[in-house]
Amino acid sequence: MRRGRALSGSFAPPGDKSITHRALLFGALAAGVTQVSGANPGEDCARTAAAVAALGATVVPTPEGWRVTGTAGALRAPETDVDCGNSGTTLRLVAGPVAARPLDVRFTGDASLSRRPMRRIAEPLTAMGATVEGQGEACTPPLRVRGTQLRAIDYVLPMASAQVAGCTLLAGLAADGVTRVTLPGPARDHTERMLPAFGVTLECETLEHGKRRVSVRGGQTLRAVPVRVAGDFSAAAFLLAAAACEPGSVVTARDVNLNPTRTAFLEVLAAMGADVKLERQRVETGEPVGDVTVRGPESLRAFDVPAAWLPRMIDEAPAWAIVAAAARGTSRLSGAQELRVKESDRIATLAVGLAVVGIEAEERADGLAITGGRARGGGRIETRHDHRVAMAFAALGARLDQPLAFDDIASVPTSYPAFFDTLAALGAEVVPVKEAGA
Ligand code: S3P
Repeated sequence: MRRGRALSGSFAPPGDKSITHRALLFGALAAGVTQVSGANPGEDCARTAAAVAALGATVVPTPEGWRVTGTAGALRAPETDVDCGNSGTTLRLVAGPVAARPLDVRFTGDASLSRRPMRRIAEPLTAMGATVEGQGEACTPPLRVRGTQLRAIDYVLPMASAQVAGCTLLAGLAADGVTRVTLPGPARDHTERMLPAFGVTLECETLEHGKRRVSVRGGQTLRAVPVRVAGDFSAAAFLLAAAACEPGSVVTARDVNLNPTRTAFLEVLAAMGADVKLERQRVETGEPVGDVTVRGPESLRAFDVPAAWLPRMIDEAPAWAIVAAAARGTSRLSGAQELRVKESDRIATLAVGLAVVGIEAEERADGLAITGGRARGGGRIETRHDHRVAMAFAALGARLDQPLAFDDIASVPTSYPAFFDTLAALGAEVVPVKEAGA
């Protein structure tokens, strides 16, 4: 794909993926019927829908999303393995409530998920009394979880992971006593925002040095509640990044979730010289929502992302990389070791991809240093089946005279099935992508 002019227009990104996973799972745990509207239509969330259906919930697709009839806390044994596909969120969140039931469940996934570390959830779940077995030191899938009546724990997370916190809190909902989870820094707090809507009492405390503690007493039953899911900021980020890179572009993402634990990328865009405007800001189902407009400046300047911001833009690192590639000077990202255990090793995948387009990118143990310049097309990007890497390079490729080829773009519908249509609707010339065997 390529283009020769500025992008303009507005679009509604797909529903937020993190919130959709939680709405499906909480609906499955609740008593009653949960209507999920504006749900993310991608494959990851469909995996969560299938997982909770296999565990006893009734899940029916609707024009707006899903209708979930819950199990009132009584998840049942699935007939077969629970295949989580590419979705780490499915596996890590669903494992929590499974561990709290007398079930024996084997979770599997695709090649990418089968390389991702599950030790981080095995630790708290084992400490609570469950038996968790994965492969090797990192405890990768297939992962067998044998649940039981759990005991509450006080758990200090080694990393600021919303998935691990969510997993432990959801296990804690059915444990004896009060489970406390302490996070070393900011991480998306959708679990903490949504559980109270389902009638759960939680205590959230801010501690010194930016730490956070969330406590939940076991024995609480969730009550079904309708969930309206706003747009996914992380999906919108690729198109906002494309706008920032092209002088004169003006692109608005409508009805986007603006949870402050997710939006540091907007602060980065502004620091690099893009004009960022928020409008129609409001709160829906406990989450901030609004429209975001990004205007591409005449030129972008390099910016070093403070390490403390990274957890608030963890999924936007690929979008950041293409903006850094278009900026004057060297931009750096540090404190980003977690990127090595995402759908691909994103530090490596981005560095290799940037080299293909002729941009100098230095790979570091915990981040990247990217020196902006004139990217060239014609090369072949290895996405390593990572949807966010594919979308980032597609957005970058849209600016080049020569199209880029991709080893594989089949991962894009993981989170954003309409991505290429939206890119084209904003004015990018999207030519059929060349896919060469992976
Ligand atoms: C997610 C949390 C983040 C994020 C992922 C979705 C979630 O992962 O990268 O895409 O929905 O809880 P970590 O919890 O590993 O940081």
